[in-house]
Amino acid sequence: MKMPKGFLWGGATAASQCEGAFTEGNRGITNTDLLPLGNDRMEIMTGRKVCMEIDESKHYPAHHAIDQYHKYKEDIRLLAEMGCRCYRFSISWGRIYPNGDDEEANEDGLKYYDALIEECLRYHIEPLVTITHFEIPLGLIKKYGGWKNRETVNFFLRYCKTLFERYQTKVKYWITFNEINTISILPFASAGIVFEEGEDTKQIQYLAMHHELTASAAATKLAHEIMPDCMVGCMLAAGEVYPYSCRPEDVWEAQVQNREAYGLIDVQVFGEYPSYLVKQMEREGIFLEVSEEDAEMLKSNTVDFVSFSYYASRVAASDDTSVEKASGNIFSSIKNPYLQKSEWGWQIDPLGLRITLNTLYDRYRKPMFIVENGLGAKDTVDPKDGKIHDSYRISYMREHIKAMEEAVNVDGVPLLGYTMWGCIDIPSASKGEMSKRYGVIYVDLDDHGNGSGKRIPKDSYDWYSRVIATDGEEL
Ligand code: BG6
Repeated sequence: MKMPKGFLWGGATAASQCEGAFTEGNRGITNTDLLPLGNDRMEIMTGRKVCMEIDESKHYPAHHAIDQYHKYKEDIRLLAEMGCRCYRFSISWGRIYPNGDDEEANEDGLKYYDALIEECLRYHIEPLVTITHFEIPLGLIKKYGGWKNRETVNFFLRYCKTLFERYQTKVKYWITFNEINTISILPFASAGIVFEEGEDTKQIQYLAMHHELTASAAATKLAHEIMPDCMVGCMLAAGEVYPYSCRPEDVWEAQVQNREAYGLIDVQVFGEYPSYLVKQMEREGIFLEVSEEDAEMLKSNTVDFVSFSYYASRVAASDDTSVEKASGNIFSSIKNPYLQKSEWGWQIDPLGLRITLNTLYDRYRKPMFIVENGLGAKDTVDPKDGKIHDSYRISYMREHIKAMEEAVNVDGVPLLGYTMWGCIDIPSASKGEMSKRYGVIYVDLDDHGNGSGKRIPKDSYDWYSRVIATDGEEL
């Protein structure tokens, strides 16, 4: 099987996980700069622990990451030599508006992205830009409360306008928010939310969700005005939830959990809150004031494509107290006895990708884009030949790409592209560990940032290069 001509094969990263140089070029501090390596990391991401200052005794993976800020030329060249046709990266909001509410954009920050984008275009690599990938300037959190505050919508639109005007002739594909459905699980990482004593956390999260959705719709409107041919997408942390058994109660629970993921994407695709979400808010005593103006903004500015990350499927039961849980992923799941798992406990389910693609397309009828998929694994450099023999990653990718090809060629799902996650090794978002590697290009750094930073193509690099060259025929 083969993917259609023009299919966007490529790789994906996020600014906070690859750029480093966190204070260079007048960049402002963002929420991701406050996430240390170690146990506190998840506590802070979920908002259970508040941390608004950098503690010099800790290691912060985002501060130096893999130094793509200085090494972008080498990184893009390596991607180009692999045959990469699309590079998904995010722009760091703090590089463009260091405090978030600045009147003027930071020219130094823009110059960095000018150069990065030029480098991609030079090799005919299509840039796919994520406007916010788990990042918000600390200034907006401290002064305004992040996405809790309606004002943040305006600052975000100012930032978007700067990007759209600057890159209107260079960037066609845009994603407004990475994994927008993580807002309830990772409120600080996803939306810069810090809860005050006594605050109604649920109410706050829904409010922030509404602000992000309104901002996303308004950004889509702006993008279409400035760049009539561009495509703006939403982005879902996906993975079908299976019922643990055919007991109707388990099937119902799986549907409830699937809808928890779809709720926000439903708004971005259909332009209104789905009835099950409206009812849920009513039951939970949530009051969400949706003005006529907001309702109209949501309705008239829906997305052009649906993008998603897929790492694993999940399993749900109406009563999961006595069943074994899967570990590792930020989304809870029952252990699926039919599946293998990664070293970090993420369940591996290639057919689940085909199922997820079909479910999403049946529901949304929009072009799809797989913008994250991959295996986080420990790699070792073979002392004999200095290479990385990552056959496990090749197997993972082969099976997932096969499932994707079936969804497209057998089931007829329209798919714009496939950008594998962390094409160059980067620190993990949830763990901060460099040893959780996804890349086809190895980076010589350890969990604490020690090492040469040297890039070494792995066996999977040569394999993926062949896959791209044959449009997926040779797996
Ligand atoms: C997605 C994020 O949730 O999963 C990425 O968009 C992240 O930023 C990726 O890196 C893989 O997760 P992790 O925690 O293994 O890095």
